[in-house]
Amino acid sequence: MERRVCPRRRMMGTRRKNENSLELLFSDAELPARREIAEQAFLLRGFALSAETALLFALREVNAKSPFRHMITPGGYRMSVAMTNSGLLGWITDRSGYRYDAIDPERGQPWPAMPESFRALASRSAAEAGFPNFHPDACLINRYEPGTKLSLHQDKDERDFSQPIVSVSLGIPATFLFGGEHRSDKTQRIQLRHGDIVVWGGSARLRYHGVATLKEAEHPLLGRMRINLTFRKAG
Ligand code: SIN
Ligand code: FE2
Repeated sequence: MERRVCPRRRMMGTRRKNENSLELLFSDAELPARREIAEQAFLLRGFALSAETALLFALREVNAKSPFRHMITPGGYRMSVAMTNSGLLGWITDRSGYRYDAIDPERGQPWPAMPESFRALASRSAAEAGFPNFHPDACLINRYEPGTKLSLHQDKDERDFSQPIVSVSLGIPATFLFGGEHRSDKTQRIQLRHGDIVVWGGSARLRYHGVATLKEAEHPLLGRMRINLTFRKAG
């Protein structure tokens, strides 16, 4: 059954600043679809849901060609988050550093092409957040299990900081940490669920961000797993 909200309650909803108190009053379906989390940074609640089936199908195809793997940091640590890529360029890390490469080092061949469903959703999301004409050439795919995390970092291995970052969450929930321009700046904690998208660019492009240690959970389609698709114009 579809729930209806009277226009006045909708207005009240969009005016409220604190999302937690909002959640007490309204169901998810009634939350504002686009929430500004910082200047030029937006949370698009549930924006990937309509593409869910196509995204999961495409994800399986990418993984069949270039499977998830645990990369090694320049300092010699194995990352707890497993990664793969699709698109012309893929983000990699090994003992010699972080970089983008057109070749999957595990296969010695190019990364799988960026699926059309990925590309279309990334462009639509960027436009919704005020960044039209976003044409990503890289999609980093992260796979988290309960107990894993991603430390605070800046996305700064790309050539062109005028293009935004589009980050799609699928599977079990996570707490996204969104900070400032300095590592020591205070971070906001944003609860991300299956289908949520965060877009940041412009003055927010180099903000520190990360993912807190995931809690034990199970998703009906993805099991004990969170998948994040991060779209960038890297080259
Ligand atoms: C990233 O910063 O690469 C991923 C962020 C996320 O998993 O939400
Ligand atoms: Fe990142």
